[in-house]
Amino acid sequence: MSITSVINYKGGVGKTTITANIGAELAARGRRVLLVDLDPQASLTFSFYSAEDWERNLAYEKTILQWYGSLLADGPTDPLHPYLLTPEPVNALLPDGGRLDLVASHLQLVDVDLDIAAALGGSRFQHGSPHFLPLHRSLADALGAEEFADYDDILIDCAPNFTMVTRTGIVASDHILTPAKPDYLSTLGIDYLRSKVSELVRDFNRVAAPGPTIDPQYLGVVFTMIQYAGSGPITASRNYMAHTDSLEVPVFRQTIRENKSLFGTAGERRLPAVLVPNANEKVQYELQQLASEFLARTRP
Ligand SMILES: Nc1ncnc2c1ncn2[C@@H]1O[C@H](COP(=O)(O)OP(=O)(O)OP(=O)(O)O)[C@@H](O)[C@H]1O
Ligand SMILES: [Mg+2]
Repeated sequence: MSITSVINYKGGVGKTTITANIGAELAARGRRVLLVDLDPQASLTFSFYSAEDWERNLAYEKTILQWYGSLLADGPTDPLHPYLLTPEPVNALLPDGGRLDLVASHLQLVDVDLDIAAALGGSRFQHGSPHFLPLHRSLADALGAEEFADYDDILIDCAPNFTMVTRTGIVASDHILTPAKPDYLSTLGIDYLRSKVSELVRDFNRVAAPGPTIDPQYLGVVFTMIQYAGSGPITASRNYMAHTDSLEVPVFRQTIRENKSLFGTAGERRLPAVLVPNANEKVQYELQQLASEFLARTRP
């Protein structure tokens, strides 16, 4: 099994879209995939459930909010498996053996971040706190339960920040993937994100040793929403993609072009774009190739 956090400091760069589409494509190849929505915006959750459905059937008992709530309450933390969901429309399209499960998010998850930080003694995440290790490791421990051993791939959609909930995602991960748009603001934070991850890994391992330490690998940057002119990306995009080469971060060979109608329709149909029937073949091919490259990079 491999666990990957999908993260960028910049909002709206395609994190959720990439998470849903890599997950759906792998499930369509017969793999067992789990998606975990750690973003209070809950965009990944709303990619698979309508707002009404979420409000009626999920919001009060079946989201990661309640699980983090149990973590902060006295007494034992809930196991995570009762929170597993199997969204209908997408799973109906999968072949035998393929499966796409979801742990849903909640708009109030933003409050949990503040509560966890408070439990650690303030927003600076004090390493001396006896809660440092158990809180940082909480999601990793939950995903280590035997109920999760059957998943081939777990993808965690992170919010565009580095707060406590995001940190639990990174601590749980073997890999980190960063979608980015090829523009100035989207590429600006990539180096900073890497240094924040390194800092977290260093702090965590200092407290965790001689127990199990972590070493999440940077899979690379995936460029998305690329505008094409003629047969190739517009010049400005090419310049920003080239700029990333100088940052010495790995970059995925496969990029994803902009296509507002396909990605817009996909949301309304509760299907990731790669599985929408009779849709733009070029874009779907790019998404399939991205999933192949993802597999190759997570299983070198
Ligand atoms: N290749 C694409 N072409 C056109 N639109 C896209 C593409 N990829 C994503 N989008 C759209 O862009 C918007 C932002 O994408 P998405 O939600 O995946 O970004 P995000 O990084 O997860 O955002 P946030 O930081 O808010 O979580 C969405 O409306 C999505 O449908
Ligand atoms: Mg998102």
